[in-house]
Amino acid sequence: MKNTVLTIGKKKSEGKKITVLTAYDYTIAKIFNDCGVDIVLVGDSLGNVVLGYEDTLSVTMDDMVRHCSAVARAADKAMVVVDMPFMSYQTSVEDALRNAGRLMQEGRANAVKLEGGTRVCPQIRALVDAGIPVMAHLGLTPQSINAFGGYRVQGKTQNQAAKMLSEAFAVQEAGAFSLVLECVPMQLASLITQKLDIPTIGIGSGAGCDGQVLVAQDMLGMTQGSTPKFVKCFAPVGELIKKAASDYIQEVEDGTYPSEEYSFSIKDEIIEKLY
Ligand code: KIV
Repeated sequence: MKNTVLTIGKKKSEGKKITVLTAYDYTIAKIFNDCGVDIVLVGDSLGNVVLGYEDTLSVTMDDMVRHCSAVARAADKAMVVVDMPFMSYQTSVEDALRNAGRLMQEGRANAVKLEGGTRVCPQIRALVDAGIPVMAHLGLTPQSINAFGGYRVQGKTQNQAAKMLSEAFAVQEAGAFSLVLECVPMQLASLITQKLDIPTIGIGSGAGCDGQVLVAQDMLGMTQGSTPKFVKCFAPVGELIKKAASDYIQEVEDGTYPSEEYSFSIKDEIIEKLY
């Protein structure tokens, strides 16, 4: 059975944790789906980990539609949530509706995610009214990286913490079915989780959230350079890929690959007649 807003909400009421992983292509999405992850998030982290940009700002609607449709073809059980890219919803409610509509129609997403609190509540309300489920996102919202002045934990001061709590209530009130909390101090994330009816999905926000999300390339040890403190590498896939590529290069260069085992053959007399 495919996960929906109802099954995700039910998990919170039953005290069961919600699992979310990002995926951007069919192959990885199929593996995660078949393992039983609840939600596959086609994050705009696509920009960083797949397209090689330094941030998420250059990701386009066409990028998200293409990658979302690949993921959606693989996800027959996991719910597919897709990020609305930078400037696809901030500009107006109309833009948000048109672009979210594309992500649902062409990308075959089951829900969209957008960043921000009170300022995007009109967009959340309009999308929900149009039948498009919305996952909200507070805390470190990467599309606002230039306003934040860097990737930092958010909500540390009294005022910031109070603002985040009221923004969390605002997005719930606007109709969001869940809320991502990114890089929020764990005590604040736990408090928000206890106070809200909708599930919270944490990333770098401690164990008190209703669920967790990680970027696939981070948890698979494939990210180049340093990763944030909250990232756990669950398997050194990056190292395995390096070893596989090095072994391949070695074997092609020394002629041990492909051996007969990996080759096709025809009868000798057919070849002899060609000489
Ligand atoms: O883009 C993304 O992958 C995200 C998650 C990190 C929550 O927004």
